[in-house]
Amino acid sequence: MITDGSHSETQDTEWVRKVKEFDPLTEVILVDQNPPRERMIHAVKEGAYDFLPLPIDLKALLRSIREIDENRRLRHKVGELQNQLEEAVVFHGIVARSPVMLEIFSMIRRLAKHFTTVLITGETGTGKEMVARALHELSPRRGKNFIACNCSALVETLLESELFGHVKGAFTGAIRTKHGLFEVADGGTIFLDEIGELSPQTQVKLLRVLQNQEVKRVGSNETIQVDARVVTATNQDLVKGMQEGRFREDLYYRLNTAEIYLPPLRERREDIPLLVKHFLSAMNQKLGKKIKGITRQAQIALLNYPWKGNVRELENVIERASLLASKDFITLTDLPSHLQQFTNPVRSSESIPLDMKTLEEVEGDHIRRVMKNVSGNKTVAARILGVSRRSLYRKFEKYKL
Ligand SMILES: Nc1ncnc2c1ncn2[C@@H]1O[C@H](COP(=O)(O)OP(=O)(O)OP(=O)(O)O)[C@@H](O)[C@H]1O
Ligand SMILES: [Mg+2]
Repeated sequence: MITDGSHSETQDTEWVRKVKEFDPLTEVILVDQNPPRERMIHAVKEGAYDFLPLPIDLKALLRSIREIDENRRLRHKVGELQNQLEEAVVFHGIVARSPVMLEIFSMIRRLAKHFTTVLITGETGTGKEMVARALHELSPRRGKNFIACNCSALVETLLESELFGHVKGAFTGAIRTKHGLFEVADGGTIFLDEIGELSPQTQVKLLRVLQNQEVKRVGSNETIQVDARVVTATNQDLVKGMQEGRFREDLYYRLNTAEIYLPPLRERREDIPLLVKHFLSAMNQKLGKKIKGITRQAQIALLNYPWKGNVRELENVIERASLLASKDFITLTDLPSHLQQFTNPVRSSESIPLDMKTLEEVEGDHIRRVMKNVSGNKTVAARILGVSRRSLYRKFEKYKL
């Protein structure tokens, strides 16, 4: 409770600001002799809880205190519920909360029991390999091998010898017989990544393996029975590949009997805060740091950025920021410069076209937008807008905010 008898609105604002800066959760009740109505309203607008005239009406004071107490209790309850809502689901290392990802977890569980082939599609960095591993871990074959092969990493001949094996003397350098990955994965799961990169010849050979459950080592006519579940993945549009004649139709239909599509991160932004938390605690462990979180501004930038490289890109950004952060929190300046401009996205839903507004209207709208983005935090808003708090307040009055 504060009184200084100065009778000035600016002084009231100053008092409230000082207390709130010290502890934003402290409530302020101002008291003074015969305060004019406008001054009381002004103070409350500026964040004071109440303004009581002197001499103090004890009943009114008690009422205010009770209200404050009740508000605090409710806020605590809401905070608790929010924490529960924000709780991440971790499914075989895959962190998510978005309904679309929870649906995918359920699909993985259902498919894992019975599948013979699954195709996983999605942009780069969306977690396709993690899903492939989860499918294996949940399958009755979890005790057997999970073998991963990146089909784009090897030239055609080497890839075929890698997948199907070769016999001694099959080609120059084939000094001994080699088992292919399909044989190694026998009884388990083989994961063929970047399947869209397969050459036409290798596509034919793969189709034959899938149809007959047998492989021929390069340079041999002998067939070997293999029983491997096949998970394939691609970030390409295989349907387009088919239409353009780069990908065999029969192979496509064989592979996509079951498909799991992983949506890009920008379409499930509610997962971003959880992933940030997850990668931050992993980095804290790795670097022996104690970073507690990220500032509100940095959080906003991470939420608005389009994430073309998806979760992998986010992981890299948090890794870099954790290395740079000099304080307890990751700040906007710890993020790469191309991300820093995303603190203030332009909403596309503006009713009046931008070019039909006066400069003043644009300024008013802009301030409103920034205030919304920083959840009403005036200090942060002033910093973003590049003006002092004082002139921000003047603008509030001017635009009746
Ligand atoms: N939901 C998630 N939770 C935790 N980590 C994730 C998640 N999604 C992806 N990652 C991490 O992001 C990185 C990329 O994942 P992954 O390799 O599975 O992606 P991908 O879809 O196979 O990418 P690419 O198409 O580039 O091969 C990995 O380091 C992985 O651990
Ligand atoms: Mg991958």
